[in-house]
Amino acid sequence: MTRVDDGVFSGAAASARRRLPRLFADYVDGGAHGEWTMVRNREAFREWGIVPRGLKNVETVDAGVRCFGQEWAAPFMLAPVGFAGMLHPDREVGAARAALRCGVGMAVSTFSIDPMEKVAKVGGAPLAQIYVFRDRGLTRDMLARAAQCGIDGIIVTIDTAITPVRERDVRNGFRHLSRPTLIQMAGMMAHPRWCLGMAGRGTPTIGNLAAYTSAHGIMGQAKDMAAQIDPTLDRVGLEWLRSEWKGRLVVKGVMHPEDARNVIAAGADGVIVSNHGGRQMDPSPATLDVLPQIVDAVEGRGDIVLDSGIRRGGDVVTALALGATAVSIGRPWAWALAAGGETSVEKAIRALSQEVVDILGLAGLEDIAALRRRGPQALWKL
Ligand SMILES: Cc1cc2nc3c(=O)[nH]c(=O)nc-3n(C[C@H](O)[C@H](O)[C@H](O)COP(=O)(O)O)c2cc1C
Repeated sequence: MTRVDDGVFSGAAASARRRLPRLFADYVDGGAHGEWTMVRNREAFREWGIVPRGLKNVETVDAGVRCFGQEWAAPFMLAPVGFAGMLHPDREVGAARAALRCGVGMAVSTFSIDPMEKVAKVGGAPLAQIYVFRDRGLTRDMLARAAQCGIDGIIVTIDTAITPVRERDVRNGFRHLSRPTLIQMAGMMAHPRWCLGMAGRGTPTIGNLAAYTSAHGIMGQAKDMAAQIDPTLDRVGLEWLRSEWKGRLVVKGVMHPEDARNVIAAGADGVIVSNHGGRQMDPSPATLDVLPQIVDAVEGRGDIVLDSGIRRGGDVVTALALGATAVSIGRPWAWALAAGGETSVEKAIRALSQEVVDILGLAGLEDIAALRRRGPQALWKL
């Protein structure tokens, strides 16, 4: 089984793997097909060093950044993670509270257990991740709900036209969870803390989607709604979405410069360079490897967030030096939530923020603007 290093989140990841029933731990950890993309995402960062610099005043280092119209205290956000609310009773709302306290951004997944309305109530202006559904009426309804609860930015994910095999999920029967087998039940009972926590929250539903499906159980709902994701979505479809949504529009899953140009031409305000953490295309290039081409294609016409494989402060600084506005983390916050709920998510965010600050200081950079000015010159290609 593929194991990539978990960086500053190693403790949280190990704890999550202990606390979660195998099928949820594997759901978070796993990737598509041979899981090569996950490995590449990490390996790409190893090819760069950050050059240490001295004789600069770095008594105070500010890692704050402006991205997608928001001010963040550190240059990263929590990526949308489906079913995160199944990992700990604090659910997505707990993660949103942690993000708010730390001053970083957060996106709530279409497939979240807590609905966007509840997450938005926490404050901190979360972004809502949506899909364009075959039924445009449903899509419109999601947009209306987002606007209604004060969400001003949406992220539309475009790398899920097909759902590839994730072998760990197949092995564990993850997608047939609505009728758990004896083995699955036994696996859950072997994690009493998780069971008790979940039992205390009642029967879970996919909070964002429950109203659109009559299917029972989160897996039935997920299956029903995943079939709604429109595989015919093209530039015209994106232009339709742009015309329907007046707020900020970000497109997630951009890995090719032509896609980046199309997305910006269709009126998007930003892109997320992402291979879904290796959960969709496998084999795919690492996001860091394609980033410079996307930066060239966007030509400063929108913010660029990079995700997939960010595990260390050095990874964040490397991505920013190569032109990303900010980055986002998926599994790391999911592990932290599973490990210890809201408190652990806060701890994880602070650990990554501190590494970013330390790396900036050691590179002689007092803030992100200084990093941008230095750009790739802050790096050493190994
Ligand atoms: C368990 C899990 C569920 C995810 N669910 C979604 C989702 O519902 N929507 C989406 O756009 N991306 C989803 N993603 C992808 C993340 O938003 C992000 O692109 C990815 O996790 C980044 O890679 P990393 O996990 O290496 O940080 C999911 C990722 C994980 C690990």
